[in-house]
Amino acid sequence: MTKTGLTTNHASVVENARKNGQPFLEQPYHLYSEANHHTWKRLYARMEPSWQRCANQRFLQGIESLCMNHSRVPRLEEINRFLNPLTGFRAVAVSGYLPAFQFFDCLSRREFPTTITVRDGAHLDYLPEPDIFHDVAGHVPMHTDPAFADTLVQFGRCAHTAAELAESAGSHAERVELLGSIVRALARFFWFTIEFGLMRSEEGLKVYGSGLLSSHGEIEHALFSPQVQRYPLQMEWVINQTFEIDHYQPLLFIVESFDHLYSQINELERWMRAGRLNHTAPGEPLFLERELQGFLPKEKAAHA
Ligand SMILES: [Fe+2]
Repeated sequence: MTKTGLTTNHASVVENARKNGQPFLEQPYHLYSEANHHTWKRLYARMEPSWQRCANQRFLQGIESLCMNHSRVPRLEEINRFLNPLTGFRAVAVSGYLPAFQFFDCLSRREFPTTITVRDGAHLDYLPEPDIFHDVAGHVPMHTDPAFADTLVQFGRCAHTAAELAESAGSHAERVELLGSIVRALARFFWFTIEFGLMRSEEGLKVYGSGLLSSHGEIEHALFSPQVQRYPLQMEWVINQTFEIDHYQPLLFIVESFDHLYSQINELERWMRAGRLNHTAPGEPLFLERELQGFLPKEKAAHA
């Protein structure tokens, strides 16, 4: 076991896989250090009371049905043993950020790209990039809900629809511009729902977004701070709204139910096909042309 175990930015197995262009890997479980397990235990213990107060019921049931380990970093294969029979989803280990098309394509196959490193225990709140606590404790319990799981699959299909529409656009520059606009809309929708969504329930407003479910400081702020603007999800607003990732979100959107969320992702695809995502407001998130080209495999092959 190495001294640093599998700590974010200090896990050589993961760093090397990334450098070698290997996006997927096995979770090298034996490499987690005791410090990594201790960090997981502390993160879990301090989130639990907030989950009881703020998380939606499906998340709480999901945590239970996955038999999530409270005190040790979970093994993805154990999580998948419980998750897969419920919705067909699997958590698959990745070495880092996946380009947008690859990420969405995984979702269409019911695979969730999952970070396996653990944040530095000396800075529990500092999160320069997702870690396993965000991905496994924040995201994966939601994948036990069938309508939520179907929503993720539909996100994946939307990426394929975007690729199809871009293929039929004119020049290379027009294709990239079109993709830039559509992928911006998809990413904004993902951000304001899957990552930071709120949902009504009989018990009041609850959190279902994973960015909130894995944030000790922000989860209660999102529900109770008078400074946060909370509005019913409006498609035209969400797809044109920029966001910043380095502070608490000042604006959040509310859905009525998971079925409502699923209906909205289908609506998003209809808007895409109708051309209504072709000119979304510029700004964050920004995608490099190289990343957008991932949506144009045929074009890439033709230039190879
Ligand atoms: Fe996330």
